[in-house]
Amino acid sequence: MEAAAAFASKPSPPLHVAIIMDGNGRWAKARGLRRIVGHQQGAEAVRRTVKHCRELGVSYLTIYAFSSENWKRPPTEVDDLMGLMRLYLRRELDELVDAGVRMRFIGDRHRLPDDIIALVNQAEQRTRTSSGLTLTVALNYGGRREIVEAAQHLARDAAAGLLDPGDIDEKTFADRLATNGLPEPDLLIRTSGEQRISNFLLWQLAYTELVFIPAMWPDFTKQHLEDAINEFHRRERRYGASSG
Ligand code: IPE
Ligand code: IPE
Ligand code: MG
Repeated sequence: MEAAAAFASKPSPPLHVAIIMDGNGRWAKARGLRRIVGHQQGAEAVRRTVKHCRELGVSYLTIYAFSSENWKRPPTEVDDLMGLMRLYLRRELDELVDAGVRMRFIGDRHRLPDDIIALVNQAEQRTRTSSGLTLTVALNYGGRREIVEAAQHLARDAAAGLLDPGDIDEKTFADRLATNGLPEPDLLIRTSGEQRISNFLLWQLAYTELVFIPAMWPDFTKQHLEDAINEFHRRERRYGASSG
């Protein structure tokens, strides 16, 4: 009876958690290691976090893996990051398929190395009928670019006479974003203590609860995730209405 009551009083987890995985470089630097080691440990943290989200009943996890601005990094680091993405997709895909994870990628994939484009397409194909956690990976993603592309699509349709510009509303606009069909994030977590959005999901985060935590991404644990979710539950989401 008590267990049932405790279960009943436990708030349901946020439907959609988004994460800006930051601090791999500083994690490595603090240990006198090369940045790539931080990124490798960051990939391990991704693997753990996917599992923890499934255990906690989160339905959608969206992670920022590589921003459209990350090309500004030295070519060797960009190569290392692409190499890790390649490794992750090759090594983890079978397990993700078995776990019922549905994978989706947002961002401009055309600029990625050909074999990574193939792996990304394959991951989406192989998991398209999965009904467990939806894992969305933002890869070569920029929120402003995504919004500009949606505007281009709408403008093209209007010019072709398929759409009356007066009919464009938030729903038609959101339908043209790369995240079409995904619910908006309920909770955004950024690690490493930085408190900014860095061009992530600009449209979609309009009413998301933001939680910034000091831990570096390679150190991110299930406890950090649970703490962030508890913090989320303490917040009152008002969406512009009066407090209740
Ligand atoms: C996050 O860690 C990984 C990516 C942005 C790809 P960083 O590499 O940004 O780590 P810091 O911010 O330099 O510590
Ligand atoms: C944001 O982190 C991008 C990713 C986590 C992939 P950055 O480390 O690139 O962001 P800034 O440069 O600190 O804003
Ligand atoms: Mg960073």
